Amino acid sequence: MSQAQAPDIDLRSDTVTHPTAAMREAMAHAPLGDDVFGDDPTVLALERRAAALLDKESALFVPTGTMGNLVSLMAHVPRGGEIIAPAESHVYNDEAASYAVVVGAGLRPVSETRDGEMPVEAVVDAIQDASDPHCPITSLVVVENCHAHTMSRPITPAYMSRLRRALPGELPIHVDGARLFNASVALRVPVADLVRDADSATFCLSKGLAAPVGSVVVGSAEFIGRARRARKLVGGGMRQAGVLAAAGLVALEDGADGTVSRLADDHAMASLLAEGLAAQPGIVSPGHIAQPDGAGLDPSRVATNFVLFAVEGGRSRRTAYLAALRDRGVGMVAYPHGQVRAVTHLGIGPREIEAVLDASAAALRQSAADAC
Ligand SMILES: Cc1ncc(COP(=O)(O)O)c(C=O)c1O
Repeated sequence: MSQAQAPDIDLRSDTVTHPTAAMREAMAHAPLGDDVFGDDPTVLALERRAAALLDKESALFVPTGTMGNLVSLMAHVPRGGEIIAPAESHVYNDEAASYAVVVGAGLRPVSETRDGEMPVEAVVDAIQDASDPHCPITSLVVVENCHAHTMSRPITPAYMSRLRRALPGELPIHVDGARLFNASVALRVPVADLVRDADSATFCLSKGLAAPVGSVVVGSAEFIGRARRARKLVGGGMRQAGVLAAAGLVALEDGADGTVSRLADDHAMASLLAEGLAAQPGIVSPGHIAQPDGAGLDPSRVATNFVLFAVEGGRSRRTAYLAALRDRGVGMVAYPHGQVRAVTHLGIGPREIEAVLDASAAALRQSAADAC
């Protein structure tokens, strides 16, 4: 799965970003305490800032997005409960089945549209009859925003309010917002609007926002109290965590050191990449998100910083294409449904995109020749 050396131009994920100079400076000088005793001032400042930005009562700093989702599930869902989540979601596919192993819950996947939304009627249909002792009790609905597997599409506040109105009032919604700020920038809406109709949300500081480590969970004070207990249970109580939280605080700053508004650059670079790739013979749209009227890669589908595409010729050509790219110093990764994923981020500008497109053209030629 891993290779010893990172590629020169690394589009495998936005998690590969290194902290900015301002982050390193803030980390070096952060006032620290013991966060398990609740007295690390930098962690407390980050939690206050995150809660204010997302307009929720309280927040909790956690090491990873995976742990943020896990402690949220633990805080919302009793053993034997059932979670409704998108069929392609990270919570369902990419968190080692923690909903089952740790939470002790079932999960009912609902297929998404090509824009990453579970149809609201399908979610309502998936709710179990709580009066029937045969049935698990539906305890949570998860929404992923941005929705990674459909090209990291942003989910709108309008969808969230339609979903909220259709669900019983007592059924909570959790947003896995690993890239919530990308959605906010792409849709040009305040990040709080994206979670107004949710009871809790997780967002990651360690992806496009460029902090080295860390995610934040937000929700009511009572929910965060339960999530904090869950965090302790899974070993996520960190001590002088302010040294990490300091980088997150810089990421969320309004000024020039903040990394939220610059996400727009990543989105522009992803569009540029998709336009170039779409013109290369052999690059097509992944089937599950292809336009009904054509197989070509549609650059207008790029709304944030993911470009998902397929290579004609099936999986063996994809493997050869990725290896040929790697030989040319470019990293992309295989993704479900036979796709290739390329993710733009801090440090990827027009020059890098031009180099990636040259490498892709050469890799397409080489992989076609290798396949003959
Ligand atoms: C949609 C989504 N949710 C959650 C996560 C988990 O984040 P982490 O890698 O910090 O555990 C990821 C990671 O890429 C993700 O893409």
